[in-house]
Amino acid sequence: MTGIFVTGTDTNVGKTAVAAGLAGALGLLGYNVGVMKPVQSGAAVKNGELYSQDAEFLMAAVDKIEVELVCPVLLKEALAPGVAAQIEGRDIDLSLIKDAYTELERRHDIVIVEGAGGIAVPLKDKFLISDLITYLGIPAVIVARAGLGTINHTLLTIEHAKNSGIYIIGVIMNNYRGGMAEETNPKIITELTGVPIVGIIPSDPTVDVEGCRLGSIISLVERNVNIDQIIRSIKTDK
Ligand SMILES: Nc1ncnc2c1ncn2[C@@H]1O[C@H](COP(=O)(O)OP(=O)(O)OP(=O)(O)O)[C@@H](O)[C@H]1O
Ligand SMILES: [Mg+2]
Repeated sequence: MTGIFVTGTDTNVGKTAVAAGLAGALGLLGYNVGVMKPVQSGAAVKNGELYSQDAEFLMAAVDKIEVELVCPVLLKEALAPGVAAQIEGRDIDLSLIKDAYTELERRHDIVIVEGAGGIAVPLKDKFLISDLITYLGIPAVIVARAGLGTINHTLLTIEHAKNSGIYIIGVIMNNYRGGMAEETNPKIITELTGVPIVGIIPSDPTVDVEGCRLGSIISLVERNVNIDQIIRSIKTDK
């Protein structure tokens, strides 16, 4: 069918957790779901080999899938991918990413693609994550923190996405803990941007991306994200 690009207002906002939750929840609805983390900087090392913790977590939420397609570009330094690649004397090969994505799209009904950092992070020269989204030609979900400071980050991300011609499915707020800011933020973001909030996911201690433990993330997404709205929205975008 298509892909959904999961970008965020920042690094560490919960893109991997939400992307895996979405992938798992769509799988439970009967979709054959693929996942992708096209570029991983700050890759971890296991048995002397680089690997992506994010890719492992995403892969834990779906049926067996080839890691070479899921994460075609691994970079050692924990920096913006464009900078990490430069330090390694490498150039991120966009056609490698596109080919892997095309193959995943061929094999699956829906491919959930996780970005790196936020939407304006450079991959090479002046090519940003937003350019990768338009290059793949898929709509985006924006993961945002639920708490204080999120209005500014979310509005800037939405504005950048709109200026780049990206179709925004909606915002998913993550790590909701309650409190005045968290309760009022969703309404303000939708009023100011017209972009729907398609989910508010509570903070849950069982979710552990670093330890590759999905915990409750799939059922949290099932219960707190409007998956029907997301599916309707990607069908409209086609
Ligand atoms: N709803 C949640 N409840 C509790 N912990 C969460 C939740 N969502 C994410 N986390 C934790 O927060 C941290 C950041 O989440 P995650 O790795 O998904 O962020 P990210 O945006 O993908 O980061 P990166 O930019 O490094 O890819 C992780 O330790 C993860 O286990
Ligand atoms: Mg991540």
